[in-house]
Amino acid sequence: MKAIQVHEFGGPEVLTLHEVSTPQPAAGQVLVRIHAAGVNPADTYTRTGTYAVKPPLPYTPGSDGGGLVEAVGAGVSRVNPGDRVYLAKSITGTYAEYALALESQVFPLPANIEFAQGAGVWVPYGTAFHALHHRARIKAGETVLIHGASGGVGIAAVQWARAAGLRVLGTASSARGRELILREGAHQAFDHSQEGYREQILASTGGQGADAIVEMLANVNLAHDLKLLAMNGRVVIVGSRGDVTITPRDLMARRGTIHAFTLWAVTAAEEAEIHAAIFAGLENGTLRPVVGKQIPLAEAPRAHREVLEPGAFGKIVLVP
Ligand SMILES: NC(=O)c1ccc[n+]([C@@H]2O[C@H](COP(=O)([O-])OP(=O)(O)OC[C@H]3O[C@@H](n4cnc5c(N)ncnc54)[C@H](OP(=O)(O)O)[C@@H]3O)[C@@H](O)[C@H]2O)c1
Repeated sequence: MKAIQVHEFGGPEVLTLHEVSTPQPAAGQVLVRIHAAGVNPADTYTRTGTYAVKPPLPYTPGSDGGGLVEAVGAGVSRVNPGDRVYLAKSITGTYAEYALALESQVFPLPANIEFAQGAGVWVPYGTAFHALHHRARIKAGETVLIHGASGGVGIAAVQWARAAGLRVLGTASSARGRELILREGAHQAFDHSQEGYREQILASTGGQGADAIVEMLANVNLAHDLKLLAMNGRVVIVGSRGDVTITPRDLMARRGTIHAFTLWAVTAAEEAEIHAAIFAGLENGTLRPVVGKQIPLAEAPRAHREVLEPGAFGKIVLVP
């Protein structure tokens, strides 16, 4: 089979296409034929070799994928060959024609969801659910700001928060991104590349601030977020690419809280809850993964460049 491999850490060019042997499922394992693999910003951090996650070389990147079960090992009972599935991590990596996974990493994909959409399920929707429900503990009637709403996690958070009965504010730097946010359920969209947008957000809450903020770029926004919080407000740091200085009194004055997490550290109970909520949401139409770009597998370097560029529009997926 063809697979992208990383033989040395470095820039996007280290993602190279190779012919490798197709893995076979041992007991408790599932072989999935990948129809699309999700590209996440974290894949680019890992590729540089400077991130907390540092796999042994060579490795095939990718924790998200949508496809068909090709074969199952002894003892596998939850899925059968031919089943449509999405992957939540895998043993061998999803940037490939086939990925080997544990039975516990394979989940049913409802018939109304395309494989490309299935490649944008686990990391985006898992992260958004954990941020909103497990960390911010959102409640219907509250106001949430999705700070960076046009990308994979942001769109997921918009859809989930809207379905949960919140007033949803989102930001994006492109007009296309803001249209997408509004289409997917935000009540208002703001441009985080424009001067004065924070004042507009505060004004839109009648000066009260947001009860919860889901933050995609904390190194740029965290200090300002604290001034946009309502009393007892919660900021959840999802993404950050550097250091930041904050004024703790902004938090003290609002009895505010800052939460942070990585999806890799969710508990088994939280993960089970996330997958149950994902299946229900995909099936009932609440969750509609948005695929902005489908890029051939061999062009993985391009996907890694583009996923870090401004102007996000849902997910970038790789197609073997
Ligand atoms: N904690 C975790 O476990 C976890 C899991 C998944 C993702 N993440 C992190 O969360 C972040 C978002 O992930 P993603 O998959 O949604 O990435 P993505 O699809 O590339 O989207 C990035 C988002 O960040 C927005 N953004 C850019 N500049 C911004 C700014 N100054 N202020 C606010 N938002 C800004 C983008 O908006 P425009 O393009 O419209 O400017 C876009 O909406 C990444 O940093 C990622 O590494 C963390």
